[in-house]
Amino acid sequence: MAQQKATNITWHEATVTAEDREKLLNQKGCVIWFTGLSGSGKSTLANAVEQVLHQQQHHTYVLDGDNVRHGLNKNLGFSPEDREENIRRIGEVAKLFADAGTVVMTAFISPYRADRDQARALIAENRFVEVFVDCPLDVCEERDTKGLYKKARAGEIKEFTGISAPYEPPLNPEVAVNTAALSIEECALAVVEALVKAGLVPAGN
Ligand SMILES: Nc1ncnc2c1ncn2[C@@H]1O[C@H](COP(=O)(O)OP(=O)(O)O)[C@@H](O)[C@H]1O
Ligand SMILES: [Mg+2]
Repeated sequence: MAQQKATNITWHEATVTAEDREKLLNQKGCVIWFTGLSGSGKSTLANAVEQVLHQQQHHTYVLDGDNVRHGLNKNLGFSPEDREENIRRIGEVAKLFADAGTVVMTAFISPYRADRDQARALIAENRFVEVFVDCPLDVCEERDTKGLYKKARAGEIKEFTGISAPYEPPLNPEVAVNTAALSIEECALAVVEALVKAGLVPAGN
């Protein structure tokens, strides 16, 4: 848990509220949190879902693993502590996006249940949709989209999720999609349907 270092700081209440922004944007700010093994399909699905929502005139944004590690989190590695801090920051950034009224999608392995729950706890109830991108390790390894599993098996990458570092699957995700059994389109549709069910986007828009 990150410590509060600064003292003598006070919260300044905004005069334009989250509700005002939502009214302007005509949508509900929320977080769609994709979690799963490397190569399970998080980035592919987040982008497919974003495409659908964008077509429906929604204001969206995807926060993606490697991209964030190039900037905001460039000082973090893959130790358990750094993974926790990585996800803590993503959770806070996602919260800001949702507060700004955006439908924000996060595509990070986020292997630890406690870290995901911490992110969930930052967001208003019913505004956090956890998507378990479920794909057997052998299929992810077969895909090996970035060639990382090969390197991990060869011992060239330490602490690789699924090989030499743990992955804790969600116990109660709002949506679970098996990307080894369903097409990208079917999985994306399942996520969008869950958003409709949660009242976050209108049906058949
Ligand atoms: N149903 C599916 N959903 C998502 N990706 C799929 C699916 N079926 C096959 N794939 C493929 O699996 C790979 C997933 O890679 P990627 O999205 O980069 O994974 P991650 O972001 O989880 O590491 C892509 O090559 C994608 O085309
Ligand atoms: Mg990815």
